[in-house]
Amino acid sequence: MDYHLLHIVTLLTVIAFGGEIRKTTEACNSDDLQGLIGFKNGIPTDTSGRLAKWIGQNCCEWEGIVCENAYRVIQINLPGLISTDTDFYQTQMVGQLSPSITLLTSLEILDLGGLVGLSGTIPQTLGLQLTKLKKLYLYGNNLTGSIPESIGELQNLQELALHENKLSGPIPSSIGQMQALEKLDLSSNLLSGCIPSSLTNLTAISVLYMNTNYLEGTIPFPSRYGEMPSLAFLRLHDNYLSGTVPLNFGYLVSLQRVSLSNNKLEGPLPSSLGNLLSLSELYLSFNFLSGQIPKSIGQLSQLIMLNISNNLIEGPLPQEMSSLQNLQTLDLSFNPLNLTAIPEWLPNLSSLSMIYFAGCGIEGRIPDFLKTIHSSIQELDLSGNLLSGSIPSWIGSLTQLYLLNLSSNSLDSLIPDSISNLHDLGVLDLHSNRLTGSITGAFGIGQGNFGGSLTYIDLSDNNFSRGVEEIGVGGQFNIQFLNLSHNLLKGTLPSSLGRLSYIQSLDLSYNDLASNLPEVLANLSSLEKLKLQKNHFIGNIPNGFLNLRNLKELNLSDNFLEGEIPDGKPLIDFPGSSYSGNKGLCGKPLSPCKTMISIKL
Ligand SMILES: *[C@@H]1O[C@H](CO)[C@@H](O)[C@H](O)[C@H]1NC(C)=O
Ligand SMILES: *[C@@H]1O[C@H](CO)[C@@H](O)[C@H](O)[C@H]1NC(C)=O
Ligand SMILES: *[C@@H]1O[C@H](CO)[C@@H](O)[C@H](O)[C@H]1NC(C)=O
Ligand SMILES: *[C@@H]1O[C@H](CO)[C@@H](O)[C@H](O)[C@H]1NC(C)=O
Ligand SMILES: *[C@@H]1O[C@H](CO)[C@@H](O)[C@H](O)[C@H]1NC(C)=O
Ligand SMILES: *[C@@H]1O[C@H](CO)[C@@H](O)[C@H](O)[C@H]1NC(C)=O
Ligand SMILES: *[C@@H]1O[C@H](CO)[C@@H](O)[C@H](O)[C@H]1NC(C)=O
Ligand SMILES: *[C@@H]1O[C@H](CO)[C@@H](O)[C@H](O)[C@H]1NC(C)=O
Ligand SMILES: *[C@@H]1O[C@H](CO)[C@@H](O)[C@H](O)[C@H]1NC(C)=O
Ligand SMILES: *[C@@H]1O[C@H](CO)[C@@H](O)[C@H](O)[C@H]1NC(C)=O
Repeated sequence: MDYHLLHIVTLLTVIAFGGEIRKTTEACNSDDLQGLIGFKNGIPTDTSGRLAKWIGQNCCEWEGIVCENAYRVIQINLPGLISTDTDFYQTQMVGQLSPSITLLTSLEILDLGGLVGLSGTIPQTLGLQLTKLKKLYLYGNNLTGSIPESIGELQNLQELALHENKLSGPIPSSIGQMQALEKLDLSSNLLSGCIPSSLTNLTAISVLYMNTNYLEGTIPFPSRYGEMPSLAFLRLHDNYLSGTVPLNFGYLVSLQRVSLSNNKLEGPLPSSLGNLLSLSELYLSFNFLSGQIPKSIGQLSQLIMLNISNNLIEGPLPQEMSSLQNLQTLDLSFNPLNLTAIPEWLPNLSSLSMIYFAGCGIEGRIPDFLKTIHSSIQELDLSGNLLSGSIPSWIGSLTQLYLLNLSSNSLDSLIPDSISNLHDLGVLDLHSNRLTGSITGAFGIGQGNFGGSLTYIDLSDNNFSRGVEEIGVGGQFNIQFLNLSHNLLKGTLPSSLGRLSYIQSLDLSYNDLASNLPEVLANLSSLEKLKLQKNHFIGNIPNGFLNLRNLKELNLSDNFLEGEIPDGKPLIDFPGSSYSGNKGLCGKPLSPCKTMISIKL
């Protein structure tokens, strides 16, 4: 649009809306203009280039500005993340948020979200001056200082997003006066003190996020039925909140997702929880909650995720839980549940796919009824229990399995061959059991259908004795983490090890391996940790090890290696104890070689 056309449009707009009488159609309201110029002057660097185009007097035409009647500025839309038709890009404004922003007294929307380089404080008088504000987005900035008490004057404010800043001090209790407030996000700041009890007066609130701060004291709401009737999303996790989950918590009948994890909450879960019929996700882990899970939990027919891990919850589990037909994830790990056995009604949970019962005092064999779970189990964690006997071969029929963690039990079988049927298995942790035989079961060796989905294998601290020669043979390998340490593995390292191209951590320490260090180890360029100590390796350290540029941890100690340590990074930067206890290693970081050089020539 050329300049004259714009001019005409402006004129027409003024005529059409019969706007206020003004000296010139080219200028916006002088307070607004002054406020915006002050804002721009606070920001020396703007990588988006938007402010550079703010010239002249007619601020209503500036990028990011919306006016009413081509005169009063009602919106400032300058988010850091800019989206075009085709993509998104992140921009920066480096500078201070100018208090002159408070001159824009007709503002309804102020969006300066995601401008990480924007620092300064929220102007103290903002709430007294920008009384028409409906949306205030100052999240993702570098703002410091406290939230001004005046904020409570914003009677029209519907959305207040101040998350991801460095705001400190208490949450002003005046916030409870904001009758229109629907979304309040103060998460990820440095806020301290108590949650103001005035929040119970927020009749329109639907989203309330105050997680990841330094808040303490009790959860003050609800005090009676009917308060916060629309509250659906509540996040208070990662604070220092104490006291109990309020007895009347069940009055917040619109709740859908609640996270109270990682606080200091104690006492029993109130049975009023059962009134939260819309609840779909409940996160309570890492608190000091005690007592039994209330029977009323069975009424939560919409519940998808229940995470109570790391509390002081006692058994037994109420049978009513068996009616949670939508439950997909159940994490009860690390509670003094003394379950003794996995409850027999577990297969009745027809949607269950992630089962975390670590450290729940489960004894005996892995029960066969688990195989009858209708749904497809994707994650099964029974680690840290007292399980004995074998890993059942029906495990191979859980075809959706992605994670299997049976570590720290007393299982004493072989790895069943059927494990190689698990095409989607990504994480296999069987460490600290009494498993025997060959490790190759874990790799699906010899099975034509092995797809290389495994990225994490921990078989350490068992009694495996065979199979090392077959690592990397057949199939395709995406393993990033492999720990076979503390076993009874014998034999030689195969050159097929070189096919584990993505491996970052390889631990074969504390075994009976006896061979040269194969040259192909030097091909594993992603390797960050290599632990081969306490074996019977012989020969020299291959020169190729100098190619292991990403290596941060190396231990070759207590073997029978000899000769010069290849002279260069990263090898010379490791401590002497990475090489000690060998037959005859020399050179940096150990003492210099004497006659070795001539031998090599
Ligand atoms: C945040 O502000 C502080 C000073 O208040 C400054 O030192 C720091 O560099 C700023 N951080 C960013 C990301 O701009
Ligand atoms: C809630 O609002 C009422 C009426 O405005 C007021 O009397 C009361 O003190 C407020 N409650 C809290 C806890 O601030
Ligand atoms: C349960 O919550 C804890 C803490 O937030 C988390 O580490 C764990 O992964 C969660 N469990 C599941 C199954 O998501
Ligand atoms: C749970 O088991 C532990 C260890 O076996 C025992 O010390 C404790 O008394 C048991 N607690 C209950 C409530 O049965
Ligand atoms: C679980 O399901 C079985 C078979 O459908 C049924 O007989 C049993 O009563 C159910 N158990 C519970 C606790 O709901
Ligand atoms: C298996 O569970 C134990 C806790 O019992 C945990 O320490 C370990 O990290 C888990 N393994 C994986 C791969 O998540
Ligand atoms: C492993 O086997 C050795 C004998 O080779 C035995 O002494 C030891 O108790 C076994 N360890 C476990 C955890 O079963
Ligand atoms: C491998 O497992 C052993 C024993 O379980 C453990 O001590 C060691 O830290 C693990 N290695 C790596 C690299 O995680
Ligand atoms: C190791 O790398 C060399 C050179 O890139 C290559 O010729 C050789 O085939 C690789 N060995 C294996 C086992 O991948
Ligand atoms: C290497 O392993 C030995 C034996 O386990 C240990 O004493 C030493 O501290 C380790 N050194 C490094 C650098 O990890």
